[in-house]
Amino acid sequence: MKLLILNYSLIAFLFFPSEIKAQLPDLIPLPVEMKAGEIKNAFSLNSNTLILWSDTGFNPSAAFLNNYLKKHYHLELRGLPYAGQEKRKNVVSMVRVVGTVKNPDQYRIEVTQNGIHISAATDAGLFYGMQTLLQLLPPNANGATYAIPAVSILDYPRFDYRGMHLDVSRHFFDVAFVKKYIDYLAMHKMNYFHWHLTDDHGWRIEIKKYPELTEIGGWRNSSIIGIYPGTGNDGIRYGGFYTQEQIKDVVKYAQERYITVIPEIEMPGHSMAVLAAFPHLSTTPAAPKKVAETWGIFNKFNNVLLPSEQTFTFLEDVLTEVMALFPSPYIHIGGDECAKIWWKQSTFTQNLIKEKGLKDENGVQSYFIHRIEQFVNSKGKTIIGWDEILVGGLAPNAIVMSWRGEKGGIAAAKEQHKVIMTPENSMYFNHSQFMKDDSLTASKFLPLDIVYNYEPIAKTLDAADEKYIWGAQGNMWSEYITNPAKVEYMLFPRLDALSEVLWSPKNKRNYPDFERRLKTQFKRYDLHRINYSKRYL
Ligand code: ACM
Repeated sequence: MKLLILNYSLIAFLFFPSEIKAQLPDLIPLPVEMKAGEIKNAFSLNSNTLILWSDTGFNPSAAFLNNYLKKHYHLELRGLPYAGQEKRKNVVSMVRVVGTVKNPDQYRIEVTQNGIHISAATDAGLFYGMQTLLQLLPPNANGATYAIPAVSILDYPRFDYRGMHLDVSRHFFDVAFVKKYIDYLAMHKMNYFHWHLTDDHGWRIEIKKYPELTEIGGWRNSSIIGIYPGTGNDGIRYGGFYTQEQIKDVVKYAQERYITVIPEIEMPGHSMAVLAAFPHLSTTPAAPKKVAETWGIFNKFNNVLLPSEQTFTFLEDVLTEVMALFPSPYIHIGGDECAKIWWKQSTFTQNLIKEKGLKDENGVQSYFIHRIEQFVNSKGKTIIGWDEILVGGLAPNAIVMSWRGEKGGIAAAKEQHKVIMTPENSMYFNHSQFMKDDSLTASKFLPLDIVYNYEPIAKTLDAADEKYIWGAQGNMWSEYITNPAKVEYMLFPRLDALSEVLWSPKNKRNYPDFERRLKTQFKRYDLHRINYSKRYL
């Protein structure tokens, strides 16, 4: 029977070759609607193809496309304004849609033998269309002419927050790699990069008013070897930081890719790097402190910020510099895993509890975050915090990042706060991809299909609360991720799965079909020399 069907299609091809539909391209994330055109209508991209754009808002997309073609396909195309060239053939045209669209990030692509037409109402929408176009190119870059199948695509994202995080405290990644990482996010139509800049194991952002933060807090004297309790310490001084000029450069690079960079400045816990530089901001000012060398949270060793006026002044100074560097309307202030024993043992904190009428140490956590929120709000920005910020009462405008499962996120949505879902069982990409992974990873297991099948809208939410689920995010904690190649190994292909969770319509998600499309995606990764996890091949 199979043979028969094959024969019929062969006959059809021989007699009516012009009517045979092209194969649908293997796109990730899968678009909302995609219709194959006829094989005979394929477009042939070559060195004579022109890039046309209707207005300067599309300059970054036109430049991105041209740089990409130059780098990977050895083609350098000429560009022209679209006006006056509407009838021209052999073009990639980028045209603004005027009027209302269903979603501001929406785009359309029409490929015919005359050219590739991308249209969108916004610059970001056009950029997403251009990213899709890059996946229509053949993954094999050897040639002078590249055939692009005739296709018609309408697409827009399911969620408005599509995030990926990178921890640069446990291990430091230089600007060149951070930019690569941002490119990887752009390829997957992600729009937020959560930059985890501070933690117990190193402070990574230059603060002009407090140079000690990077001079002292940016360096640790040793790192644990292996999973806690480990097999010893390596005794190697380790560190690094970004200057403010480098930060501005990264932010601009991300902006050109329609990605907002959200900086995270951890408080009141995860602060050993701060306290190594400024022990007077701890609950035990006389005790010497050092930047942490052992991964994990050790309540007995990792002191936390004292909720004193000195601390708040310090944090406001730091946040003032941070907010000047990052145009993001959102500032992540951490809030997770703050060991309360330090505040229990601190006379100052116990007096504060009495003076302010706080319930207990959880009340102090809430007081702390409320104060920081007030300051950040006074500068016109909104705080994001890990779900511990719910404890003791949520700050009025805070956005919650739910990591200890979904419970915190569900509770916050019910309180009508925006939520980013990042439960560690589904969204922690530092966990192993395989039961026995290729190298040392955090000791939990997160296979690809779990990421792919993650649903950010919990079943227990009713329709009225669903809209508070802003999106989801993958987290890349770097305790066991010591170099860029390992980041790529942990990221790919789980980022592909995440992008489909966040971008594609829920009813289109299909794991076997995703696995099939990944084979083509891997050829693209080969073109980019990405160190993806090859065991999926
Ligand atoms: C976290 O993993 N402590 C947010």
